Amino acid sequence: MMLERTIAWVDDTPYKGYVKLIDQTKLPLEFAMIDVKTCDRMAQAIKVMEIRGAPAIGAAASMGMALAAIEFKGSSKQDLIKALEQAKKTLDSTRPTAVNLFWGTKRILDKAKQLDLAPKEIVKELIAEAKLVAEEDVEKNRSIGKHGGTLLNDGDTVLTHCNAGALACVGYGTALGVIRGAIEAGKKIKVISDETRPRLQGATLTCWELKQDNIPVTQIADNEAGLLMRLGKIQKIVVGADRITSDAVFNKIGTYQVAIMANYHKVPFYVAAPVSTLDFEKKMKDVEIEQRDEWEVKTIFKKVQISPDGVPALNYAFDPTPMELVTAIVTEDGVFTPKQLLKRYPFKK
Ligand code: MRU
Repeated sequence: MMLERTIAWVDDTPYKGYVKLIDQTKLPLEFAMIDVKTCDRMAQAIKVMEIRGAPAIGAAASMGMALAAIEFKGSSKQDLIKALEQAKKTLDSTRPTAVNLFWGTKRILDKAKQLDLAPKEIVKELIAEAKLVAEEDVEKNRSIGKHGGTLLNDGDTVLTHCNAGALACVGYGTALGVIRGAIEAGKKIKVISDETRPRLQGATLTCWELKQDNIPVTQIADNEAGLLMRLGKIQKIVVGADRITSDAVFNKIGTYQVAIMANYHKVPFYVAAPVSTLDFEKKMKDVEIEQRDEWEVKTIFKKVQISPDGVPALNYAFDPTPMELVTAIVTEDGVFTPKQLLKRYPFKK
């Protein structure tokens, strides 16, 4: 059984509702849902990574904007727009690297600005728009799966890094969507999941969701990937992305070294992401890479300390992989080499 929705809007009426999301900080040991009823609570959920993964954050951000609209108490459209601009600031300040966050808040703010209606009716339309963002995410991922599935051969073992699955999206997944697409086309695929230090999304989330779907998955420590490529045990690599600039793919820290090893061993390195992840206005040097708290590196989930007190840790959460290391990128529209991608989406500049 595939996990249906990581995040979903629950309607009270067409004018009021709230959000239910899977608490990803508790997996794999506990499956718990959180009800999110305010914009501030949504910002907190994104910040502490109860919800994470670029496309899921995009959907969460647009639903956070819809919650802010519901919370609005004034009576003019102008004041509603001001409240939404403030909500956008709050949500945008939670995490800096995944571009889908800013895309999600902008989409709802732009929609509000376009509507020539009374505030109450605008709220209703914004709720509908946020729900649409979520539905579209699943459709796009299914398309990514169809296109990307053609890149995998029957019998392939595929390495993935971090979690770019249903949990990182509203459903189905981007990188794991490619794997699901190949399996739905009748191919036998095995997955190797880098555990992905320091937050271990590969071990805790990718392994969990693939196990739910009975897709064969083996966990490895991050530093085993090179040996497995040398031994010929990995035929393809598929990862997701948090932002794709004109010259690089930003993804979870460690992706860059996987890409270098893939290049050395001539293993195809594929990236799967929706068009909302493209940001060709920027180059890799322009993107802020999130730096997270030391405890993530110095401890195992704050439970076991693994280095002496007083030794500092560096904790960059993402890295850019230069385009020359990328074999192809899969979007909802097809499979593209890096050069073809820039030509296909000129409006992303
Ligand atoms: O820090 P996270 O967990 O929000 O990181 C995002 C990711 O899961 C990955 O980088 C992922 O591979 C791309 S998002 C589908």
